Amino acid sequence: MGLFDDAKSNSSLFLNPVALDYEYQPKMVPYRENQQHFIATCIKPLFQKRNGRNLFIFGKPGIGKTVATKHVLNELEEQTDDILPIYINGWRKNTPYKILLEICEVIGYKFTQNKKTEELFQAVLPFINKKALVLCLDEVDKVKEIDILYSFLEDIYNKTIILITNEKYWLDKLDTRIKSRLLPEILEFKTYNFEEVQGILKQRIEHAFIPNVFDNESLKNLANKTFDLGDLRTGMYLLKESGDAAELRQSKKIEIVDIDKALDKLNKFKIKSSEDLNSEQSSLLDLIENNQDKSTTELHKLFNSKISYKSFKRRLDDLKNAKLIDFEEKSLGAGGRVTKVSLPKKLNEF
Ligand SMILES: Nc1ncnc2c1ncn2[C@@H]1O[C@H](COP(=O)(O)OP(=O)(O)OP(=O)(O)O)[C@@H](O)[C@H]1O
Ligand SMILES: [Mg+2]
Repeated sequence: MGLFDDAKSNSSLFLNPVALDYEYQPKMVPYRENQQHFIATCIKPLFQKRNGRNLFIFGKPGIGKTVATKHVLNELEEQTDDILPIYINGWRKNTPYKILLEICEVIGYKFTQNKKTEELFQAVLPFINKKALVLCLDEVDKVKEIDILYSFLEDIYNKTIILITNEKYWLDKLDTRIKSRLLPEILEFKTYNFEEVQGILKQRIEHAFIPNVFDNESLKNLANKTFDLGDLRTGMYLLKESGDAAELRQSKKIEIVDIDKALDKLNKFKIKSSEDLNSEQSSLLDLIENNQDKSTTELHKLFNSKISYKSFKRRLDDLKNAKLIDFEEKSLGAGGRVTKVSLPKKLNEF
């Protein structure tokens, strides 16, 4: 038998592997209908040439915030040419300059060379003000110099600004001049229950794989794992990896052994990424692992009293940006608040 015979035969379990990419936009976004209606309600005044309502969306990772919002923006784009929907990921476009370049790209403004941020803004303003704007800044906590919002709020007439983040209390950090102009509606995305996780995975399986590769038992197993992790993105990863594992052993079905293989890989992947850390980061992660649910100030005391709290917090922020730790803001009543630090479930569980 030749080395590539199996690769040439057309016996893949995957029908449409793209459907498992993180960026894939499914046609339907079930279980988030209420949220999509709410987002649409904030946008609707723009159809009457009135100012829209701004919106702050928060919730844990991998629970459909991005996919549901994009679904609304896509539908808006199909409905009207008078409202300009612009989606920007603040992780990738993390400065006002990059955000404005992206807006130029979307509206087809080409004379961007040698223009500074403010000049770009002034250049695109007449284009935007001819229409209404829905600007979605996803992962908004990653954007540096968020004061750019001030200009958007002041100089664009009819708009809805949608801000998405994992951080429930992100708004509190905003400058009061921005906050008082933004006055957003608040929309929390709650985690999915087991039936919803199973429903989403089932739908995606139908798109991604040929029929009948998953039996009920395997689907339930996978849905259980995904539900425990609380993150549908990890569920998509497990689907893809278990499909690869089944193909590797030339099976026509994805079985529990394949799902276990995929889980193993998820585990190794995480360990590998922690090997890439420098030694200070590793010892900080160890400290967090051994002192779960401590606040940032408590950890600072335990870590190294020679560095200031501010630099310590910066180190924690770096780990959070690498998605290696989670923050949870807890209210102490009477206006007080602490930030608790923990390892994300993904790291903890394996
Ligand atoms: N209701 C749903 N229907 C179909 N697919 C979904 C649904 N919810 C989540 N997904 C899928 O799960 C994955 C994660 O969803 P999404 O990217 O929207 O999460 P998120 O809440 O924006 O997470 P993060 O805060 O990490 O950005 C995506 O691949 C998305 O397609
Ligand atoms: Mg997202």
